[in-house]
Order: sequence, then structure tokens, then C-alpha cells
Amino acid sequence: MLKIEDFASFRRVATPFYYYDIDLFRQTAEKVAELSERTGIHVHYSLKANSDRRLNDILSSKGLGADCVSGDEIDYAVSCGYNPKKIFFAGVAKSDKEICQAFQVGIGAFVVESLEEIEIVSDIARRLGRRAPMSLRINPNIDPHTHHYITTGLYEDKFGISDRSFDEAVAMVKDNPYIDFFGLQFHIGSQIMEVEDVIRLECEKVNDIVKRFESTGLVVRNIDLGGGLGVDYDDPDGHPIPDFETWFRTISDNLERRPDQTLHIEPGRSLVAQSGSLITEVLYVKKGENKRFLMVDAGMNDLIRPALYGAYHKIENVTAFYEDNNSRDTRVYDVVGPVCESSDCFGKERSLAKSRRGDRIAIRSAGAYGQVMASRYNMRPFAPSVYSDRIAEAPKRKDYFAEVD
Ligand SMILES: Cc1ncc(COP(=O)(O)O)c(C=O)c1O
Repeated sequence: MLKIEDFASFRRVATPFYYYDIDLFRQTAEKVAELSERTGIHVHYSLKANSDRRLNDILSSKGLGADCVSGDEIDYAVSCGYNPKKIFFAGVAKSDKEICQAFQVGIGAFVVESLEEIEIVSDIARRLGRRAPMSLRINPNIDPHTHHYITTGLYEDKFGISDRSFDEAVAMVKDNPYIDFFGLQFHIGSQIMEVEDVIRLECEKVNDIVKRFESTGLVVRNIDLGGGLGVDYDDPDGHPIPDFETWFRTISDNLERRPDQTLHIEPGRSLVAQSGSLITEVLYVKKGENKRFLMVDAGMNDLIRPALYGAYHKIENVTAFYEDNNSRDTRVYDVVGPVCESSDCFGKERSLAKSRRGDRIAIRSAGAYGQVMASRYNMRPFAPSVYSDRIAEAPKRKDYFAEVD
């Protein structure tokens, strides 16, 4: 069950909101910073997973770098205190404006995803009288055994340069006065749970690819394995901190690196998912012909993952737990939102404590790819961030009836 220290205060906060467990978040960030220090693997947080300012201030204060995918993410990362030299800029379709923004900031490396992009970035560097620090994102054609929507390292995916185009890529980069060759980047997918097997395979492929590159005379100074570590969506309390140990160890044991080579990773989901929950209130308990529906005040505009990927999130009735001592019977519900789309459903046939209008519901493990993907569809307002140690500062639920004559 979601840990809530002061349920009486929590209950007064206006819903829906994203609730961040700051203690857990700090522990997660500290664990990663400590492993980075111990193994010498540099960590660049993938800002796309969650751009909440307070969370990012904490991550940058631990010395982490950032992985960005837009010009505005780069500027925002700088404003959150990330060192520009530790910012990498990936993305399959960078605009001229964004490329110039990145030069302006002085980022650590452009992670270039196609032969066409090598040409454009090098041409912009020439026009600006600069040299572009450049990593090539290689598509190693590895199946990470995850959802096909979040698989990125297969030949059919739009990401990266296929290993079949090596020779052309090398010819474009080598001896190019506008490119400072930085290294190679690989990101094979997200929510990887078979960490040892998949990451070992990734390392073996990367070792081969690095050798092939270096046989051309190019020196691969930096090797970046991307992100992808999965989290336990079924049991967030059983595994609140993802298995970073195994990830770092598998990389350290399997990736060949010389002392002049630096290793990087780009975790997103694993740093933020378990610290965040979407909190919503039951508006109606509707008895349909064949089903019971819990109709809540958060919608797919607040958390689109279930509608977009069929993603599973654990759902809990926190009011039943904290106010009624978990003494209620259970019932089976479809938990749905107010948006006018049939896909606006957070979970089908979920067994929950018998729920009532006004109960608070927690949709767990929503810290990654949750709030950042929110929209104002149906002109619904954005759900704000509320932090476990600052509940008193959160916007309170209004008493609407007091204002009606
Ligand atoms: C290049 C790159 N690096 C890192 C990440 C972060 O992945 P994850 O959130 O699975 O750790 C992504 C996610 O899409 C990515 O595309």
C-alpha cells in the first residue's frame, strides 16, 4: 500500500495530483549515485521520463548528467543545474533550431541517429564555425524482450544507424573537421526485466561493434549503453528501488573497456517510476449491466500509459486502508476516467476494497512517462505535483457548496 504519513492532510489535497515520495526518490537517486561512483559508470538521467523541477534539482545535485531529446529539454536541464558538458542530445529528428540551441549551451555530445543527420549537424557546425562533439547511435538489432512499443534497437525501428551502414558512417565522420568524434551510443528498449541476459547480450554486441569501429582508425572514447532498466509494476512495494546493482554489475562484468574509455548509461524510468503515484478521487460507483465501474476524477489525459500501451499500473483504495483499517470487503471494478474515449481506462477487472464516492485511489508506479505525457484533452487542467514532505503546501480541495446561496 502507498505509504502516507499523514492521511488527514493528504485527504484535504485537491485531486487529481501526482504524489511523489521524496524519501524513496532520494534513496533511489543516492543508490544510483553511489553505484556510479563505485563502478565509474557515468549516469545521465533521461529527462523525458519526468521533468518535475524538484526531482531534477535533486538528481543534478547528485552530480548526474542528463539525456535530452529536444532543445527545450536542454535549456530546462541547464536551468535545473545539470552541467552542460554532461548533457547528451539524442532524438531522431532534431530541428536546425534545436541543433543551434545545443551548440549555444555547449552540450557534451550530439547523439546522431542517421547518416542524413551526420551531414546536417556537421554542416551547421561548419556554418557556426564550431566542431560538433558527436556520438553515433547504433542500432544493434537486439530484442530486449519488452513491449513492442518500447523496443528501439531492431532493424525495423526508426532509431539509430544500422550496423549495415557502418562504412558510410565512418567515412562521413573520419577526418571531418567539423566533427569531434565522441563515441558510440546504444539504447535497445525500455522496461527490460531480463536484465542479466539482455544486458549481457547487449554488451557482447557492443564489444564487437566497438572493435569494428576502431579497426577503421576511429577511437571510441565514450560508450553509452542507453537506459532501459525495468521496474516492478505488479509489486511496487516489494521492489521500490529497481535492481540497479544487477544492471551496473552486468555491465561492469561484460563490457570491455580500456582506461581511456568512459562508460555512460541513461536511465529514465528506473529512477522515477516507483516514487510517483497518480492520486484520484472516486466520483461515482456505477453499476453497469455486466460490470461495476469506479469512475474517478483523473483521466487518460493525466496518465496515458494504459491507453497508449495497455500498460499495467497497480491500483489501490488508500482511503479504505488508512481510514477503515483495510476492513472493507473487496469488489471487482473497471477503473475509468471522465474523458470521452473508451480507452480512458486505468485497469479492467481490478479487485479493490469496496469503494465509495469520495474515496482516494492511488495509481502506483506512475512517476515515469506519467505527468510528462499529460495533455489538456477535454480542456481538463494539468494534475500538479505534490511532495510527501510538503503536503501542507499543496492546493486544498475547495468546499464548493459553501459558495452556493
Ligand atoms: C536514447 C534513450 N536513452 C534513454 C532512454 C530512457 O529509457 P528508460 O526510461 O527505459 O530508462 C530512452 C527512452 O526512450 C532513450 O530513447
